Order: sequence, then structure tokens, then C-alpha cells
Amino acid sequence: MSVQVNNGVSTSATQTTPLWLLAEVTYRCPLHCAFCYNPTDYDKHTQNELTTEQWIQTLRDARKLGAIQLGISGGEPLLRDDIEEIVIEAKKLGYYSNLITSGVGLTEQRIQAFKAGGLDHIQLSMHDVTEDINNFITNTKTFQLKQKVAAMIKAHGYPMVLNVVIHRFNIDHMKQILEMAEAIGADYIELANNQYYGWSLVNRSQLMPTREQLERAEAITNEFRATNPHVKALYVVPDYFNDRPKKCMNGWGEVFMIVTANGDVLPCHSARVLPNMQFPNVKDADLGWTWKDSPAFNQYRGTGWMKEPCRSCEEKEKDLAGCRCQSFLLAGDAEAADPVCTKSPHRHLVDEAIENAKNPQLQAQPILFRNDKNSKRLIAGELKELTDKFHALP
Ligand code: FES
Repeated sequence: MSVQVNNGVSTSATQTTPLWLLAEVTYRCPLHCAFCYNPTDYDKHTQNELTTEQWIQTLRDARKLGAIQLGISGGEPLLRDDIEEIVIEAKKLGYYSNLITSGVGLTEQRIQAFKAGGLDHIQLSMHDVTEDINNFITNTKTFQLKQKVAAMIKAHGYPMVLNVVIHRFNIDHMKQILEMAEAIGADYIELANNQYYGWSLVNRSQLMPTREQLERAEAITNEFRATNPHVKALYVVPDYFNDRPKKCMNGWGEVFMIVTANGDVLPCHSARVLPNMQFPNVKDADLGWTWKDSPAFNQYRGTGWMKEPCRSCEEKEKDLAGCRCQSFLLAGDAEAADPVCTKSPHRHLVDEAIENAKNPQLQAQPILFRNDKNSKRLIAGELKELTDKFHALP
């Protein structure tokens, strides 16, 4: 066993298991959602996707490490025509598999193949009860299609699981969204208040609701829960509006392993925004080494890497200092306390963002939709005024 010490965590000493494997099988997507959490530079990774064989090997290797939950996500995973093969392999290996989809590309033939292949779960994204907002925020005409796909999922005996990202454009429709979920027979609806990473950070001023809107939406959800206990409604409060940060990903390198379209292995969706970090790739690194011993996965494990005020904080084990990516994106320092925390010297950045949510001039700025052209522009360093404004860089 190695005794090398990496930020307070001995390599090879981790007792953690990557219970969740999220396979982001492609960054291609027919939708262009303004709040997408995919990296804004995703266009770099669209030409070198893993092959079917590489995905199957990754599933096998992760299963050996103890992974049991498999999310098949993207982009839109159904843009690949090998999801059926991946599902069959997942079943063989004993995974509980979940397809996370916009519904575009889900045909009768494919859903039958998924059912026969042993896919356990389908999570469908919905965007609003109105066609206008659905089509606006996704920058596509997908409203009718989503209604049809929801019916198809139900007809095939899958639990009906909806995910709705909540933002300024749909938050005042909470009651109607919940009624829609009930009407289409949803078993479960996740009301995921927008968190600000990737494209949603670029569009934060336009997407962020006010505190009053959030409180109203939560009250409506609670009322709905009381009268409709058969639809499980999960309301995820955005961390900007809390005074303590979330334990992001349940801890860096604790239970989540994300393999991106091109094979990079990450502890969280946005980790590649962090500077000076090298994430291993399944094409050339052993997955067991990646999880247990790689510098990247050990960088923020545990508490040994923390600085003040986290180091001496009595709550540090509870939230593990929040989110490394949020600290970097807002404070310019991945090791700083998450600026969401009221003990952080950068909390004012979050308060300013909340204040800005009331500013009609900022809200009226044009939205930057997630598409290849805009991704290329951001990679080329254009639109700096949109990205630089979030950082309080020294
Ligand atoms: Fe990367 Fe939170 S999203 S640590």
C-alpha cells in the first residue's frame, strides 16, 4: 500500500466506493436549454466520444469497484444508437439503470428494446406547462413531443419520473406544473431549482428567481404534497438561498463517479473548470487507480486540504466545505469556503446575485442558449464579459 500523502489523504487509503456511475455518453443534444449544467466548452469533446466497446468495458470496471447505480445521460443519450447494447450489458452486470432523457429520440421500438433489455428507470425532463416557455427555454419545439413520450413511458409500465428545472420563467407556474404531473400520472416529480454552473451560470441574471418567488413555490409544493401523497414531489432548494453550503456530490470522491463522453473520469459534473487538475481518462488509465489513487480524486477527499474558515469550523464534516467548483467559479479559489456559506468572506457575491434577481435590466439581457456555435465562441474566449463577471479573482 502506498504511503504517499496527498493533501492529507493517503493514496490507496480511501475506503470509499463509487456507488453511482454517471455515464455522460454524449454531449450532442437536440435541445439548447439555457440552464444546461453541461460545460460551456462541451464542443471540445463532441468529436472523440467513447465507442460502445469502451463504454461496456467502463461499466465492467466500475462494477468491479462496487458501482451499482448507473445513470445514462448526456447531452441526449438517445442520439447514440448503442444505448440498447449498453442497457443489456448493465442488466447483465447487475446495475440498476436509469435513462435520463429529454424524450427526443424515444420511439416505440426503442422503448420496447429497453424494456426487453432490462432498463429499470426512465427520467424525463419537462420544462413547463406552457408550450411557449417550454419552447423558449429549450430553444426548440418539443412541447408536444414530451407529452407523447410521457404517455409512452407510462404505457410501458415504467414509473413516471419527471424532472423539471425551476427558474424565473416557470417558477410562477408551480401549481400548474404539479397539476400536470398529476394529470399525466407521474409517480415522482423532482422540482430541481436551478443551480448555477455551466450554461446556467452564464445566464444567471436571467434565470434566477427572487426569494419571494421561491418561498411561494415551496409553499405550493407543500400544499400539493399534503393533498396528493401518491405523487412524490421533491423540492430542491437552490443553495444560493441557504446560509450553509451543500455537501456537494455527497463529498468529493465519496460515492459519485462521472465518465464523460470522451472518457474523462470526474468526481462531479463541472470538475474540469478547476485549474491545474488532470483528470484521468478511461482510454489510458485503470479505473481502480483513478478512483483510489489518482491525485485528482484525492485532491479534495476528506478535510485535510481545507483552509480557514473551514479548517476550524465545527460543521466541516457535515458539508465538507461545500462545492469546489462553486468556490472557484465565484471566488476564483477552489480551496476557499463555498461562497454560499455565511462564514465565507465571499458571501457578498451570492448576496449580490440574489439582489440582481430583482433587477429588470439584467433580466432583460439576451440569453445565451446551449449550442455548438455558442460553445465554440466561449472556447475561443469570446463573450468574456459574460464569464468574467462571476469571478472575484485576485
Ligand atoms: Fe464540482 Fe460541486 S460541482 S465540487
